[in-house]
Amino acid sequence: MHWSKTHSLARFNLATSGVASFPLRELPLNLEALEINGDNSYGYAPLQQAIAAHHGVDPECVVESAGTSMANHLAMAAIIEPGDEVLIEHPAYGPILDVAYYLEANVKRFHRPEENGWAIDPKEVRRSITPKTRLIVITNLHNPTSVLTPESVLREISDIARSIGALVLVDEVYLDAVYENTPPTSFHLGPEFVVTSSLTKVYGVSGLRCGWILAQPDLAWKIRRLNDLYSATPVFPGELLSVIAFQHLDLLRERARRIVEADRKLLRDFLEHQSTISAVETKWGTTVFPRLTNGNADPFLERLRSNFDTSMVPGRFFEMPEHFRIGMGVNTKMFAEGLNRISRALTTLFGQNEF
Ligand SMILES: Cc1ncc(COP(=O)(O)O)c(C=O)c1O
Repeated sequence: MHWSKTHSLARFNLATSGVASFPLRELPLNLEALEINGDNSYGYAPLQQAIAAHHGVDPECVVESAGTSMANHLAMAAIIEPGDEVLIEHPAYGPILDVAYYLEANVKRFHRPEENGWAIDPKEVRRSITPKTRLIVITNLHNPTSVLTPESVLREISDIARSIGALVLVDEVYLDAVYENTPPTSFHLGPEFVVTSSLTKVYGVSGLRCGWILAQPDLAWKIRRLNDLYSATPVFPGELLSVIAFQHLDLLRERARRIVEADRKLLRDFLEHQSTISAVETKWGTTVFPRLTNGNADPFLERLRSNFDTSMVPGRFFEMPEHFRIGMGVNTKMFAEGLNRISRALTTLFGQNEF
């Protein structure tokens, strides 16, 4: 997070994970309806209803939070006691790991092997649990690879969790980037599931910090009470704007979709022409996680940034230093030129064919 706030900027910034900002002026909105304070002590009812309707769940199961970041923190803090075992996928989104360490969990990992297309193997999850495992944590879509975990695998994971009285936390912040036949939230698959998400990555309104947790009512209430310590009440104007965003969600989604899909076409073509990188490609999502076949990617990424003004996220942030993450969905012209520059940098360093 610190790196992305301070070091990711370049003219050709492919170190993103979310889509382009949705401009306020394109949101049909009556500014006079905006207010500073309102009735939102444990969340603003119209927003909770909008989130609940989006997922087809009871509003009692919805807890508002400041983005998925706070959602992950609150959910884990409400579930984990110091010393509890928490089983987290590898590779993982760094801040999820950091929250678990911060909460003094005993962090265990299970691998999503690249050679299996980064898929979760429930057998590996079963091998990795112990009677002390309190929580299994995954992202779906997976950050950094955008791989989708199918319902059958999620069901197997919940069976495993149930057998030891554990819960399954699924961060679904990228799930709606599956534009066709978008899978429903895993929250519907059983009471073991706790889900986090937000409007930041797929809808382009990160500034609203509209995030949420889906949890069974008793856990949801515990999380709300815990949040009394952190945020006390949400930011009311943000809640009002978030309700409007939900009313126009298709508009937000389609705008981003056009860019993501155009970028993905360019990415496919680019990857086809590369001999020094390999990647598991997906049909959805805003990121891809290629591997540099020559080894550690850091010197290459440094060169790319200093000589070609182009940035990507180093794989070391996902504990995989031979990889790097490319983000789509911001600006297709910039993306095209960024890919060009990556190709030129690869040619300069490794002498491969230019794209
Ligand atoms: C898997 C995952 N969860 C959560 C977040 C943070 O989301 P938000 O901006 O909603 O706090 C990110 C941001 O990159 C992410 O990749």
